[in-house]
Amino acid sequence: MNIVFEYIKYKWNAKGRHGIHSPFIYDLVDRVFKIDFSTSNLALLNTTFKKLKNNKKVITIKDFGAGSHKLGNQRSIQQIFKISSSKGHYGRILFQLSNYFQPKKILEFGTSLGIGTLHFHLGNPTIQITTVEACPETLSFTQDFLKDKVSNVNFIESTFRDFLNQISSEKYDLIFVDGHHDGKATIEYMQKLEKHSHNETIFILDDIRWSDDMFKAWNSLKNSNNYNVSIDLFRMGILIPRKQQVKEHFVLKGR
Ligand SMILES: C[S@@+](CC[C@H](N)C(=O)[O-])C[C@H]1O[C@@H](n2cnc3c(N)ncnc32)[C@H](O)[C@@H]1O
Repeated sequence: MNIVFEYIKYKWNAKGRHGIHSPFIYDLVDRVFKIDFSTSNLALLNTTFKKLKNNKKVITIKDFGAGSHKLGNQRSIQQIFKISSSKGHYGRILFQLSNYFQPKKILEFGTSLGIGTLHFHLGNPTIQITTVEACPETLSFTQDFLKDKVSNVNFIESTFRDFLNQISSEKYDLIFVDGHHDGKATIEYMQKLEKHSHNETIFILDDIRWSDDMFKAWNSLKNSNNYNVSIDLFRMGILIPRKQQVKEHFVLKGR
């Protein structure tokens, strides 16, 4: 995939609120994507990021996914933070979605250093978050690191597949799939997650342009009849069943 060409294409097609007729999407652009962090949230994020940026501790990664394009199996916390954390623009989108839609239950696939988890929590501290991570050293670091920063978080050490084979009839209001960036695996997880979702569940897929294969999976999910709303935010994609809405695809700026 030519990512520069993809980015130019995205920028060309990306819309602000003008020309959007769906009230749901209009609100998303006009209200949700305008929500800002409070001063105290911003201060917490800045000190948290600083600690991770300066942390040279090396941990051994057990890779259960598509693997990093850039890193080996011995990785420092600062490297993991730099390469695989939802910070900046995309972290803010996670915060905005949890703050505006107030989902009661969130499922996150891929905890890593817990930056996505922290953004969801800051958006609404009463949310119940279940976050799944298969790498034991990563999860152990993160559980300890986040213990005084989040509450109502259930950290699960498991592969996504094992987790899906074990959960009962639990349903989630927001599902963030952010690990194992492989097209076939992503489709498999999304199919299995269907019965753990409802009409308004917000699915967020990260790294939809990670590879040709991931982009193909995103396009096939986007075109399927399971989701009437699909939103391209360049790195992330959002899918929502919303059967009451006419099927439509949106390319949005996100700010
Ligand atoms: C990109 S990071 C997650 C970043 C995090 N969600 C955030 O917002 O900052 C992906 C994580 O998924 C984990 N992972 C990848 N494949 C997995 C699998 N099949 N089962 C469980 N965890 C997996 C990796 O170990 C890694 O820590």
